[in-house]
Amino acid sequence: MSKFEKSEWAEDKHAKEFMENADIYILERQRLFEILKSFYTYFLGNKAYQRPINVLDLGCGDGALTRELLKEDPKIKVTLIDGSAEMIRNARKHLESYEGFNFIQKTFQELLKDESEGNDKITDGFDFVISSLAIHHLHTKEKEALFRYIHEHLNSGGFFLNIETVKAPTDELESWYRVLWGEWIRKNQIEMDAKENFEYLPEQYKNNPDNHPDTINTQLNALKSVGFQQVDCYYKYGIFTIFGGKK
Ligand SMILES: C[S@@+](CC[C@H](N)C(=O)[O-])C[C@H]1O[C@@H](n2cnc3c(N)ncnc32)[C@H](O)[C@@H]1O
Repeated sequence: MSKFEKSEWAEDKHAKEFMENADIYILERQRLFEILKSFYTYFLGNKAYQRPINVLDLGCGDGALTRELLKEDPKIKVTLIDGSAEMIRNARKHLESYEGFNFIQKTFQELLKDESEGNDKITDGFDFVISSLAIHHLHTKEKEALFRYIHEHLNSGGFFLNIETVKAPTDELESWYRVLWGEWIRKNQIEMDAKENFEYLPEQYKNNPDNHPDTINTQLNALKSVGFQQVDCYYKYGIFTIFGGKK
C-alpha cells in the first residue's frame, strides 16, 4: 500500500512550492481549468437544480479547482479533502468567505480504510466529484477502490471528472511525452517570464517513487468496472489527461 506520510506531499515545503509554481509547469493548466468549467456548466450548472450542487474535491490542494468552479457557480457546496495540513490550511484561507464548506484533512488511504471499517463520516451524496493530479499517487488497486468509493458517494446522474497524469502504453511514447512536456515548460516559462527553470521536472516526475500512474485504458476500464457510464478520455496532451464518467 502507498503511504502518504512517507511521500513528499507530507512536507509543507513541497506543498508551498506547488502552490507558487504550478501555473509554470503543469501543462496547459489554464486549459484544464477551462475544460473542467465547460464540463460543469454543460452537464450540471445548466440543469434546473432546486438546491446548491454538492461537490467533492479530492486531493484539493489549496482549492484551485473549487475556486474555478465557483467562478461558474458561486452557489455550489463543496467538501474538500487532502492529506496535507498545509494544503487544507491554504484551501480554508482562500475559501473563507464561503459558508458551509467542509474541509477534511485525510489521506485517500484513510478514507478507504474508514469506509471499509464502516467509519466513513461522509454521508452526503455528491453531484460532482473532481480531482486534479492527486490520484496517481495511489497504486492500481487503491485507485480502483477509490473509484468505487466515488461511485458509491455520487448521486444518480452525478459525474466524476479527474484531471490526471497517466502512464503511456509504451516506453518510447512515455519518453516522447516527457520531451513534449519539457518543450511546453520551456515555452511557457518565456511567456510567463519565470525566474526559475523547471525543465528538469518531467525527468524528476519519472524518477519520483511517489508517482504510480496507470495507463488511460487501465483507468477507463476500472471506472467502467465499478459501474460508471459515459466513460471517456475528454482531453489528452502527452501524459496529461482529463477523464471520468457518469453514475
Ligand atoms: C499536485 S497537487 C494538486 C492539488 C490541486 N488538486 C490542484 O490541482 O491544484 C496533489 C495534491 O494531492 C494531495 N495528495 C497526494 N497524495 C494524497 C493522498 N494519498 N491522499 C490525499 N491527498 C493526497 C497532495 O497533498 C496535494 O495537495
